[in-house]
Amino acid sequence: MKNLSSIFYGGDYNPDQWPDEIYQEDMRLFKLAGINIITIPVFSWALLQPSEDEYKFEWLDKILDLAWENGISVCLATSTAAQPSWMSKKYPEMLPVDFYGRRRKHGGRVNFCPNNEKYHEFSTKLTGLMAERYKNHPAIALWHIGNEYGNYCYCDKCEEEFRNWAKKRYGTIENLNKKWYLNFWGHTIYDWDEIVIPSGLSEVWMDGWTAKTNFQSIAIDYNRFMSESVFNCYKAEYDIIKNITPEIPITTNLMGTFKPLDYFKWAEYMDIISWDNYPSLTDPMFKTAMRHDLMRGLKDGKPFLLMEQTPSQQNWQPYNSVKRPGVLRLQSYQTLAHGADAIMFFQLRQSIGACEKYHGAVISHAGHENTRVFKELTQIGDELKALGDKTIDSRMQAKVAIVFDWENWWAVEFSSGPSKDLNYVEQVEKYYEAFYNMNIAVDMVKPEADLSQYKIVVAPVLYMLRPGVAKNFESYVENGGTFVTTFFSGYVDETDIVKVGGYPGELRKLLGLWVEEIDAIFPDMSNSIVMKETVGKLEKEYISKMLCDILNVETAKVLAVYGKDFYAGKPALTVNNFGKGKAYYIATDPEQSFIAGLMEVLCEDNSITAPFQAKAGVEIAQRFKDDKEITFIMNYNDEDVVINLKDENYIDLIKNKGKKGEILIKSKDVLVLERKI
Ligand code: GLA
Ligand code: ZN
Repeated sequence: MKNLSSIFYGGDYNPDQWPDEIYQEDMRLFKLAGINIITIPVFSWALLQPSEDEYKFEWLDKILDLAWENGISVCLATSTAAQPSWMSKKYPEMLPVDFYGRRRKHGGRVNFCPNNEKYHEFSTKLTGLMAERYKNHPAIALWHIGNEYGNYCYCDKCEEEFRNWAKKRYGTIENLNKKWYLNFWGHTIYDWDEIVIPSGLSEVWMDGWTAKTNFQSIAIDYNRFMSESVFNCYKAEYDIIKNITPEIPITTNLMGTFKPLDYFKWAEYMDIISWDNYPSLTDPMFKTAMRHDLMRGLKDGKPFLLMEQTPSQQNWQPYNSVKRPGVLRLQSYQTLAHGADAIMFFQLRQSIGACEKYHGAVISHAGHENTRVFKELTQIGDELKALGDKTIDSRMQAKVAIVFDWENWWAVEFSSGPSKDLNYVEQVEKYYEAFYNMNIAVDMVKPEADLSQYKIVVAPVLYMLRPGVAKNFESYVENGGTFVTTFFSGYVDETDIVKVGGYPGELRKLLGLWVEEIDAIFPDMSNSIVMKETVGKLEKEYISKMLCDILNVETAKVLAVYGKDFYAGKPALTVNNFGKGKAYYIATDPEQSFIAGLMEVLCEDNSITAPFQAKAGVEIAQRFKDDKEITFIMNYNDEDVVINLKDENYIDLIKNKGKKGEILIKSKDVLVLERKI
């Protein structure tokens, strides 16, 4: 974010759960911890609008003024994630209908039909009133629309809107029958009102946590339609606010790899991306890093905000461990290292009732500052003050991109076959992990992205190719890029119709091969990848599982073959020279050491190196601003480590001290180094 004097530090504040007497004490504690922003009022629609014609803003006026008197900015939430109960009572069709066709009762949150007109009317009216009332309030730094959108609905209104959506997209019934492949099982339709939404009452069922369907095309389209419908709720509020306060950035808090919403589409109407990060005790750091990079990638690498993390525990995970000493600080710096300009929390003062009362908070149930967590929070707050604006609006400079695509995710996992174990995000994570462990920066990009700035592009399991995507990859490789893709790629078009003539369809020329069969092996079975020649450190044999393509090379060169079964000796890893570049194909699901080894070689070939040599468990990431390079080093290990900075002159931005040569980084400690370039 431009023009910020220091990193936003604060979070969700719920004064509506407390009597007025406590607010002054809250402000004292906030300032003590270095908090400079509060998000308010995220869930107060019922208080702001007690009935259809009555609005009450006075209590909010008071808090905004109080914040500002205390030098604290406000991230103003529109409060539209949970409608008042009188509204659900008066307009019951506002409540969504679930997967099994049951109208939900009032309760929970984000519990509304996204296509309900009354919801749109009331939410935009409230937002408009707030924007008018507070447009000149000096505390307002940012708008926060709704909260963690993620609703889904199968009501009659949604069905009607879905029919209109399909009509707009496909034009004629004939075309729709073709695109949805409706001659299959005699599903041919003759009128738009014969379209049935794909739910648990029609074409979809749940296989554990994964939805499966008879008609992938319809199910994918319903996801597209729902993602757009929910987006339209956000966009309606966005337009109203933009009109009244064009200068104040607008966001909504996203959720990382959240399957139902195509965030790349949402990002277009988010002035700045923000997201909520809730790793558990056992989540490896690379997974969080990947999600930060994905969120940064939504807006072409522009900085994002961490809207929420917990200062310590969650309440909603199966095991809500406290964050170990130093971990909150490590996680906060990891967030900055991957491109954030804000470190914010849920929640500032801990609730005493309902389901989040045992969720960590800046001010815990103890009610004072003498806690381990508060001390750690204060240390971070002080350090962020010391960093000032040094890191703000800086960018990462990745030479590696990994392709991520929501529609592809839906398509891969709706697919009936080849293996129920195929999990799209897990496949992407394997490649990300390989680069992460080498401390090599990665951008997460959509398939249509401009790839010219990258030396390596990896597109794991890119099963669905939208128009133009294959061409995008081809011209990237023609111009010298290194491209990697895997099994189960290039099979279908955007409506999930197979491209005939041999997989991977439109990628066949680029990869110089065609896939004849794909074998799904059982979880207790394996095959192996036997190197035909040494590739970097890859030699001998590696285990592979789950899926094995049986393929024929055309122009590609075979680097490794299968070790077992009737296709032993057939290609398992190939490379094709294409223009000035190379396209690799990994035909099966290899053990991690194989992926790591291959990615290492590709980095060497392309002269991509880590900023410093470091041992495992030390993460290094860099951001760049003007003529400055800012290096973040996080030591996650239980032991101290030594890193050699060589003869370069660095400034330790936290301690404001010069650094060079060999330096010791204590266990769980962090270093932020600046250097002129
Ligand atoms: C989400 C929500 C918050 C809160 C936290 C609890 O991120 O946005 O309102 O419920 O989870 O972890
Ligand atoms: Zn609905």
